[in-house]
Amino acid sequence: MKNLGLHEIRKEFLSFFEKKGHYVLPSFSLIPKNDKSLLLIGAGMAPMKKFFTGEATPPAKRVTTCQKCLRTGDIENVGKTDRHATFFEMLGNFSFGDYFKKEAIPWAWEFLTVNLEIPKEDLWVTVYFEDDEAYNIWKDEIGVPEEKIIRLGKEDNFWELEVGPSGPCTEIYVDRGLEYGSEDERPGGEGDRFIEVWNLVFTQFDKDEKGVYNPLAHPNIDTGMGLERISTVLQHANNIFEIDAIKEILEEIKNMSGYKYGLDKKLDESARVITDHIRAITFLVGDTVRPSNEGRGYVLRRLIRRAARHGRLLGLKKAFLYELCDLIIDSWGVEYKELIENREKIKDVIKGEEDKFLTTIESGMNILSGLIEKLEADNKKVLGGEDVFKLYDTYGFPPDLTREILWEKGLEIDQKGFEEKMDEQRERARNARDDSNIGWDSHADESVFEGYTNEFLGYDHNSCQGEITGIFKNYKEVESAEPGEKVMVLLDKTPFYGEGGGQVGDTGYIIGSDFKLRVFDTKKTREGLHLHLVEVLEGCLQKEKVGAEIDVERRNNIRRNHSVTHLLHKALKETLGSHVNQAGSLVEADRMRFDFTHYEAISKEDLKKIEARVNEKIFEDLPVVTTITNPQKAGEMGAIGLFEEKYGDLVRVLSMGDYSMELCGGTHVSNTAQISMFKILSESGVSSGVRRIESITGLAVYKYLLKADSLRDDLSRELKVNKSDILQKTKANIEEIKKLHKEIDKLEHDSAKDEVSKVLENIKTKGDINYVSYKFIDKDVNTLRDMADEIRSKISKIVILFAGIIDGKINFVCALSKDLVKNPYEAGKIIKDIAKIAGGSGGGRPDMATAGGKILEKVDDALNSLSDFI
Ligand code: ALA
Repeated sequence: MKNLGLHEIRKEFLSFFEKKGHYVLPSFSLIPKNDKSLLLIGAGMAPMKKFFTGEATPPAKRVTTCQKCLRTGDIENVGKTDRHATFFEMLGNFSFGDYFKKEAIPWAWEFLTVNLEIPKEDLWVTVYFEDDEAYNIWKDEIGVPEEKIIRLGKEDNFWELEVGPSGPCTEIYVDRGLEYGSEDERPGGEGDRFIEVWNLVFTQFDKDEKGVYNPLAHPNIDTGMGLERISTVLQHANNIFEIDAIKEILEEIKNMSGYKYGLDKKLDESARVITDHIRAITFLVGDTVRPSNEGRGYVLRRLIRRAARHGRLLGLKKAFLYELCDLIIDSWGVEYKELIENREKIKDVIKGEEDKFLTTIESGMNILSGLIEKLEADNKKVLGGEDVFKLYDTYGFPPDLTREILWEKGLEIDQKGFEEKMDEQRERARNARDDSNIGWDSHADESVFEGYTNEFLGYDHNSCQGEITGIFKNYKEVESAEPGEKVMVLLDKTPFYGEGGGQVGDTGYIIGSDFKLRVFDTKKTREGLHLHLVEVLEGCLQKEKVGAEIDVERRNNIRRNHSVTHLLHKALKETLGSHVNQAGSLVEADRMRFDFTHYEAISKEDLKKIEARVNEKIFEDLPVVTTITNPQKAGEMGAIGLFEEKYGDLVRVLSMGDYSMELCGGTHVSNTAQISMFKILSESGVSSGVRRIESITGLAVYKYLLKADSLRDDLSRELKVNKSDILQKTKANIEEIKKLHKEIDKLEHDSAKDEVSKVLENIKTKGDINYVSYKFIDKDVNTLRDMADEIRSKISKIVILFAGIIDGKINFVCALSKDLVKNPYEAGKIIKDIAKIAGGSGGGRPDMATAGGKILEKVDDALNSLSDFI
C-alpha cells in the first residue's frame, strides 16, 4: 500500500481520471446554486444534478472533481467516533450519458490496486441485490472471489438524495484485518473491520418531490470516495484525526491550550470537535456564508459556537478559532484559492462571531447552570421550551448547544415548547416587518437574484429611463403587485444608490405607464445589485419600461456628508498622526458618523483645529475628481482605503484637489464648496482604540445655528438681560444661589440648636445616670444622629433615645456617652428591645445604634420605656 498524504491522494485521483479522458473541474462552492432542495453541498454530485437530468449541459461528458462537502446530520457524533465529520472532501468521477458500469468498475479497481497499491485480497465489494450486471463484472472481469461480493438491499446499495438523480450502487470496502473485528464480520454490517471507501452509483432515475423515480434518458455514473476515509486506510491511521494534514490542526490546538492528548476522553473529544469544525467553518466563510439565525448562516453559527465552547472546555479563554484557521488556509489554500484570497475576511468573520459568543456565554452559562441545578433539585429531566428560548434569544445559546450541554448531564430540552416560542417570535417579527419594510434581510438566500444584472448611473444622474426586470416578494419572484403592496424590484439601469460603504440607500419614485412606486429604501445584494424596496402607490406594478428619479435634495445632503468624511479623514491624520484610520462610518442625509482608530479622547483644541481645517478645505473650493483604475494603480497613486475590499477589477479613486485621495464607491459633491460648512457635534469613544465623531454639513449647520440663536433668545428673555449679557448674568446667578444656600444652612443649624436646647431641658437622672428620650417630627435619621452626638459631647454619663417620624415611618436612634459604653449599657442592645415595642428592629455599635419602627401609636410607649430600662 502506498503511504500518501491527503493532498497527494487528491492530486493522484484527479490526474488518474484526467488520463481517462475526464475534464477536471474545480470544486463547486458549498452553497448550492439554484437548488432550493439543498441547504449545503453534501456530495460530489450535488452541484451537478442538472447535468444528470439533462436540464443543463456539462462542460464535458466525463468530469472529475474533488468536491468540498458538509453534512451536519451526525454532528453530535463528531469527536466521539473515529470517522464522523462535518466537513470532508469527496473525490468523484462522473459520466453524463457516456461510459457506464463496464468502465467505471475496472477503473475504480485499477486506481485502488495499481495507483494506491492496496492489496487485492484486502478488497471486498457489495452490489444491489438485483444487479447481476455489476455482480458479473466484479466476478468475471475483475476476478473478485464470489464470497467477497455481497448482495445488499435498497437500504445499503441504492443511493439517493431527497430529490434528484439516484440509482443502484456498488460499494468497495477495505478489510483492515482481524485486529479490527471478527472472522464472521462482513461489509455492510456493524463493526470497524471493513471500511467503505468508494461508492459507485449507476444513476438511472430522477426522483421527484412526490417520491416517483422517473427514468433518465440515458444512464450515468456518479462515484464518491471520501478523501479522508481513503487517507485513513493508506496511512494506517486509527481515525480521521490521525491523518497527516488534519493531525496538524489537532497538534496546533494542543499547543494553543497546552493540554495533553490521550489522558482525558472528554478533553480529547473537545479537541477533535474543534479539529473537525474549524475546517467546516473556514470553508463556509470562505464561500461567503455569514453567521445568522437561519439556514446556512445558522449552520455556521452553530459550528463556531460549538467549537468556541469546546475551546473553553480546553481552557482557552480568548477567541482562538480565527488564529487556528490560518493553518487550514495555508494547508488547503493550495487547492482552494478562495481561502487564500479571503484570508482576512474569513478571520474577521470568525473572530467577530466568536467574540460575540464569548461575551454572552459567560452569563448564559451561569443561567444555564442555575437552571440545571434547579432541574436536578426538583428531580426533573426536561428543560422547558421557554427557558431554552430565553437562552437563545437573550444569551445567544443555539438550542442545539443547550441540548448538548443538557445531554452531557442526562437531561433533555422541550423541543416542541421551544419551537412554539420561536414561531411566536417569528410571527412578531413578521408583523413588525410588515409596517416598516418588506423583510429585507442581509443574510437572506439571494439565489432568486441570480442571472440579473444592473447598471448604476447614480454617480452622474439623478434620474433615468430603465426597465423593471424583476419583482420579488419575500425573496420569491412575482409577476405584478397591487397598490399598497410592498415589494422589491430590480431595474436594468438605475440612479438609486444601494446602501453600502457606510452610505445609506436612496429614496424616490419609479413611474411606469400606469403605476407609481415610492422607493423607500435601496439596498445592495451581496453580488452588488441595486435592489429597490418599494411601495406601490397607484396602478398595477408590472415589468416594463419606467422612469426612475431619486429624491435629489436628500441625496445632495448625503453627498455633502459623504464627501466631508474624506476631508475629515485627512484632517484627522494631519492633526493626530498617520495611525488614524477609518474604522467605519454612517453617512445619512441629516448627519454623518465617522469611526477611526485613535487611542485617546481628542483634546478640545485639537478638535477645534480639525473642524477649522475641514472648513478651510471646503472654502478652498477644491474640485472633486473620480478616476477609475485598477487597485494596483490606485495604490501607486497614493490613494488610501480598504484595498482588501472587493470592488471588482476596477476601483474608483476619489480626489479632492491635492488634499485627499481615497478609494470610494459612494456618491459625492463635485466641488468641496458644495459641502458649504462642517460642524462637529460630538467626539466619543466606541471601543478600545476606536473613537467616533458625529457631525453635520450644509443646511443642517444653518439649522443648528438657528436653534442656538433661538436658545439664546429664550435665555435672554428668562434671565431678563441682553443676549450679550447672558454669561455674566448666569455667573452672577450662580454666585447668588451659593450665597442663599449658605444662609439656609445657617438657619437650619440655628433651628437644630433650638431643638438641642429643648432636649437638654428634658434630661432626667437616676442615680448618677442621665437619660433623655425625645420625639421629633420630620427629621431624618442623620439629623437625629448629629444632635445625639452634640448632646453626648456636652453631658457625660448620658443615655439618649430619639424617635423621628418622617414619611409615616419611625426611626430610633440611641446614643451613649463614652463613659457608659459597655458599663453597663450597650446602645445596640437597648435599641433592640425598645424598637420592638413599636414593631421594629435594628442594631449598631455599642455607643450608637439605629432602628426602624412601624406602629406610630406606640412611639411614646417606646420612648417612655427608656426610664424602666435605666
Ligand atoms: N453520490 C454518491 C455518494 O455521495 C457517490 O456516496
